[in-house]
Amino acid sequence: MSGFWAKLLNTMDNSNAFQLGVCDYPEHVPQDRWQEYARTQKALGLSYVRIGEFAWSKLEPLEGQFQWDWLDQAVNTLHAEGLKVVMCTPTATPPAWLIRAHPEILAFDATGKIREFGSRRHYDFSSRVFREHSRRITLAVAGRYGGHPGVVGWQTDNEFGCHDTSRSYGGASVAGFQSWLERKYGTLERLNKFWGNVFWSQDYNEWTQILPPHNTVTEPNPSHVLDFYRFSSDAVASFQEEQVKILREHSPGRWVTHNFMIFFSEFDHYKVSECLDFPSWDSYPTGMLEFFAPDGTGEALKAKYARTGHPDLISFNQDLYRGLKLGGPLEAKGRIHPRTAGHWVMEQQCGQVNWAPFNPLPAAGAVALWTAQGWAHGADAVVYFRWRAATMAQEVMHSGLLRHNETPDRGYLEIKALEREGWTVAPVETKVALLHDYESLWIFDAQKHSSSLSYWTQTLTYYMALRSLGIDVDIVHPDSDLSSYRLIVAPAITLMTEARAKHFEAAAQHAQMVFGPRTAYRTQSGRTFEEGQFGPLTGLVGGQLENFDSLRPTLEVQIDAHSVNTWAECYTPTTANVKYSYSSGPLKDRPAVLEQGNVTTIGANSHTLILEILSAKLEAIGLTPMLMPEGVRTSSRAGKTLVMNFNEEAVSWFGKTLEGVSFSEL
Ligand code: GAL
Repeated sequence: MSGFWAKLLNTMDNSNAFQLGVCDYPEHVPQDRWQEYARTQKALGLSYVRIGEFAWSKLEPLEGQFQWDWLDQAVNTLHAEGLKVVMCTPTATPPAWLIRAHPEILAFDATGKIREFGSRRHYDFSSRVFREHSRRITLAVAGRYGGHPGVVGWQTDNEFGCHDTSRSYGGASVAGFQSWLERKYGTLERLNKFWGNVFWSQDYNEWTQILPPHNTVTEPNPSHVLDFYRFSSDAVASFQEEQVKILREHSPGRWVTHNFMIFFSEFDHYKVSECLDFPSWDSYPTGMLEFFAPDGTGEALKAKYARTGHPDLISFNQDLYRGLKLGGPLEAKGRIHPRTAGHWVMEQQCGQVNWAPFNPLPAAGAVALWTAQGWAHGADAVVYFRWRAATMAQEVMHSGLLRHNETPDRGYLEIKALEREGWTVAPVETKVALLHDYESLWIFDAQKHSSSLSYWTQTLTYYMALRSLGIDVDIVHPDSDLSSYRLIVAPAITLMTEARAKHFEAAAQHAQMVFGPRTAYRTQSGRTFEEGQFGPLTGLVGGQLENFDSLRPTLEVQIDAHSVNTWAECYTPTTANVKYSYSSGPLKDRPAVLEQGNVTTIGANSHTLILEILSAKLEAIGLTPMLMPEGVRTSSRAGKTLVMNFNEEAVSWFGKTLEGVSFSEL
């Protein structure tokens, strides 16, 4: 591939217009359908076609015996039609011949059982044998298509960790974990100290005594868990880096991405995406709702949003993935992607899914609405899953843009009618940041102390409050550059270090800050601070933790008119002012919210209290919070503001009537 071609491709790919695409599987249909499919895809206004992520056995039916002809022809057909190909490495599905020759590739579940061949993602990221084959097949595919003018970018593998596959509790991960620990701690004395292994006689005196934490009699040591999660996450990151290195070498001028998942938390996405040009994610709004409806809202909320998904659950993921690359220099690790703003939705639901406990049809208008919302929250492209509904195997109950019989399904018709005039791919601009950190999530959830509480639910409470006030939000890592924000909300950053505390002190000089309960409760190894909460952040907060109260369902305490559920903690102020105190329960008259300078620390989970405090903070930075009707949200990008209605019925707002499940420009 000459430099000229590389440049031309980059320019073509650098158009400022939001683009659409589709995931397609030429290997699932007879070859005589390919031409027709490409023509129809182009006519529908699609620009990208993603292919190849599960095609290993078709590409290499026996070790070293490659069959390229079919894929050559598939790529050539798409290219000839003017479609751009997103090629994938096929490592999510190692073929049977490889697994039977090297069963040590297989991973172990948390009960210690082998996870067998017969579906997908059956590998341990730490398996050296698999790493070798992953590099080998990546090199083969990159060597074959890296310079093809139709191939504009790459996706590595597919949905790392899907079906709980980023952590393996036996096999290759055992030795991998032991040597990772040895590299990290150097001596067992240090490890024993950092983990607090004197507790329950958990001290180790050989590295080989330490196993992944599983099948323990009662809960394992949370510090052990935290390090195992870090180790597993690092294995995913290095697996990805190996592939990306090969792709960069053999496919110059093309971008590389990976398709992450909704609310997936089994690895540190900031680290795993460092080597990518931009992150992508897979958006399945109705399926997601079944798993992530915020606690306490239960069945009523699931029923209400069954056909659209909840607007904030979807946009949270858009904002999260958009934020993965904020803060890192573009040139780092050989990135080539010229844009600075966008992420992609690499798989967008376009009809019913097949994998949730219930799989309703989306409402009329939902596919268009999800696409609009994706653009407004910073996506540069939305790629639908999938072209034609599968006629075989595990996903025959899943929809596509075409039905089994190749007639256009509902999603197809909505895309055809979609007007995307003026949807340019400018950055989303906001002065409000919400901080998120996977290590805090892991240690928070290792000891939730309440079945109604988790890191995501606590984080979502603050995010949803901001969104319901009409505010656009960046979700960023706590250690990233915070200098452009005027309001920084840290709902659940429970893991604190000296450096992080200093970083927050600097941020509080120019921004309003809000901390949620359990902030700075843990050291980096998962212990508490000898001086108690807030450890190194005590000076900035101006107080210390006194007591916490885990509230079972229906048990509430009050802060004046505000009801508090799930969690209530109270503080002993040192230098801060008391902004609110509890008015009932065992913490009656003790401080619930502290305020010192720009910093407000909230100890109670109370939806109305959080709304009140965030509204005041927003006003303090010159914004005008305005409570939106249920299911209605606004989002701005490129000088346009979209107002979106996720209710199936019409809603009046701001003198305007919004049709059911629709969007319009404000
Ligand atoms: C995704 C996956 C796809 C397909 C889809 C069905 O998680 O990446 O391959 O299985 O789900 O909704």
